[in-house]
Amino acid sequence: MEERVIGSEASDFDERFEQSLRPQWLSQYIGQDKVKHNLEIFIQAAKMREESLDHVLLYGPPGLGKTTLAAVIANEMGVGFKTTSGPAIERPGDLAAIVSSLEPGDVLFIDEIHRLHRSIEEVLYPAMEDFCLDIVVGKGPGARSVRLDLPPFTLIGATTRSGALSAPLRDRFGVLSRLDYYDTEALTDIVVRSASLFEADIDALAAVEIARRSRGTPRIANRLLKRVRDFAQVRGNGSITMDIAEEALEMLQVDPLGLDHIDHKLIMGMITRFRGGPVGLDTIAASIGEESMTIEDVYEPYLLQIGFIQRTPRGRVVTHTAYEHFDLPMPE
Ligand code: ADE
Repeated sequence: MEERVIGSEASDFDERFEQSLRPQWLSQYIGQDKVKHNLEIFIQAAKMREESLDHVLLYGPPGLGKTTLAAVIANEMGVGFKTTSGPAIERPGDLAAIVSSLEPGDVLFIDEIHRLHRSIEEVLYPAMEDFCLDIVVGKGPGARSVRLDLPPFTLIGATTRSGALSAPLRDRFGVLSRLDYYDTEALTDIVVRSASLFEADIDALAAVEIARRSRGTPRIANRLLKRVRDFAQVRGNGSITMDIAEEALEMLQVDPLGLDHIDHKLIMGMITRFRGGPVGLDTIAASIGEESMTIEDVYEPYLLQIGFIQRTPRGRVVTHTAYEHFDLPMPE
């Protein structure tokens, strides 16, 4: 996969950087109002009953703050927060080690939970449902199952593809919350908040411009802000003005809708080689040298969201909105 300033996947660098900006409380978490208001009630009810919060599944495109929200939930509940990810849990024993180290009420966060092995899902079911683990001890005819009690805990799973989750696993979450792309207003608030945490001076219009080009994604907004701030420091007096922001974003090759050279390559490829479609995902992937899954998870969601491509039973189609954006005539 190519490097891009507007990629929505997190690098290690992003993770450290995001932690420094991360809100601690729901009241500081900007946007996703419906999800936030529901969670407020569930959290308050669980606290009044002195119970652990029901298991929560957070799903939606990458970069929208699923990990951040999970950490906020743990903080609001006043419990510990442990994180792992689907691919990191290779054997049932790995999961057993993690869940048996939890304190009562703790939040266990599993990122990319759709990538959990089926054999591990099976260990997770009784852990989620009855707070116990059935562990097989020994091998062959002498093997026996031992039941281990666990403290009550809250599993928060995060996934970019809720459809890839098995039905039995999905059914075990009491709360299913879908995070959506942020609107420009919410992203502007996030940019202003982050700038103030960096102690960077920013014009209101510059904040809006960065927000507009961030594909509805806080991770991208914060990354662009950081690049623009560098630019302001070297080319200006450190203040992030509209002129500086526009010049920097131009240099970063992020267009007014937040599209970059990869989006251009994808759409122009569909237009020039396949007359705008319909064309199958695998065919598009092969023609631009990317993996189908990367296109589906990373590049395509935002293009679908802004109505530049559509999914049809016969394949992907470029819409007239995209032709207009690229100033191209629509084929007959
Ligand atoms: N940083 C990333 N996402 C955020 C959000 N939703 N609110 C506040 N700060 C954030």
